[in-house]
Amino acid sequence: MSDYPALQARLVADIGAAPDLDALESLRVAALGKTGSVSALLKTLGAMSTEERQEQGPQIHALREAVTTAIAERKAALEGAALEAKLADERLDMTLPAAETPRGSVHPVSQVMDELAEIFADMGFAVATGPEIEDDWRNFTALNIPETHPARAMHDTFYFPSQMKDAEGRAMLLRTHTSPVQIRTMMEKAPPIRIIAPGRVYRSDSDATHTPMFHQVEGLVIDRGIHMGHLKWTLETFLKAYFERDDIVLRLRPSYFPFTEPSAEVDVGYAVEKGRRIVGGSGDDEGHAWMELLGSGMVNRHVIANCGLDPDEWQGFAFGAGIDRLAMLKYGMDDLRAFFDGDLRWLSHYGFGALSVPTLSGGISA
Ligand code: DAH
Repeated sequence: MSDYPALQARLVADIGAAPDLDALESLRVAALGKTGSVSALLKTLGAMSTEERQEQGPQIHALREAVTTAIAERKAALEGAALEAKLADERLDMTLPAAETPRGSVHPVSQVMDELAEIFADMGFAVATGPEIEDDWRNFTALNIPETHPARAMHDTFYFPSQMKDAEGRAMLLRTHTSPVQIRTMMEKAPPIRIIAPGRVYRSDSDATHTPMFHQVEGLVIDRGIHMGHLKWTLETFLKAYFERDDIVLRLRPSYFPFTEPSAEVDVGYAVEKGRRIVGGSGDDEGHAWMELLGSGMVNRHVIANCGLDPDEWQGFAFGAGIDRLAMLKYGMDDLRAFFDGDLRWLSHYGFGALSVPTLSGGISA
């Protein structure tokens, strides 16, 4: 009969000293493999007498058990060490200087959004956002746009399938304008409110001047005693800072939007120089014309009431403008579709350096 405790001690010691996973595997095969030493002992059980087997069987099985456990423990230890070594080896020093100058540029739309935020922050406006997937109450109803308004027609609005209603049973859609951010802001924040809300909007429309996705910026001021003079001053100050010239002349034309009363469309004077529209001067001046730039007005009292505010106490103005349009006018692109083509030549020509952040002191167009 073999000395099982001595054999077990030797095998377990060898396993514990295995330097790597390959060596451990060799030891496993040598002990537990088909022709391994422990397997050979197990085979001797068959030839033993009943008494011998009752005495030695449990010892041999305990030996196999101990060897199996020792192998599993060593394996876990070696694998853990291998992972630690790999992690240490693959460490990257993120503070090292880049080996290559980064390519890429800031898209003009992002640039203009940064410019808008900078200009309006100087006037005390915060930047607000809302989701692009909106419900029809915030996109239309709360903005005083009745069911029968043409903007609600399927042909303008991308609706989600009718079974995809929100928790309140409202139809879901891709917002058609940034105006629902007015509703969200008035419902979430107590006045006084001064925000701009730039972002993506969607309409089922596509040609040289329309893309199914485009960008708008919304403005909203709610306070006591706000009137159209505040609106006109704000837009004039904004456009002078944005176009970086003092001779900006605005014309407010009476108009209609369901969410403002009274409403005004704002035109800006421009002249054509070398085939490009250059903003500045009165549209009535020699060689000048008027161009529509934004929609605006005093926030309709129904809209203020829809948001749970008392329209006798709180008034305000709102405006909305196309960001892509503003970018084209300032930076001279002539096809809106190119904004969304991702053409590297266009991006490197019209894009902005990532580090040239617009500031009022350093120059708004960087
Ligand atoms: N939401 C309007 C649109 O998409 C633009 C607009 C007009 C926004 C007048 C306003 C506003 O806030 O007062 O056509």
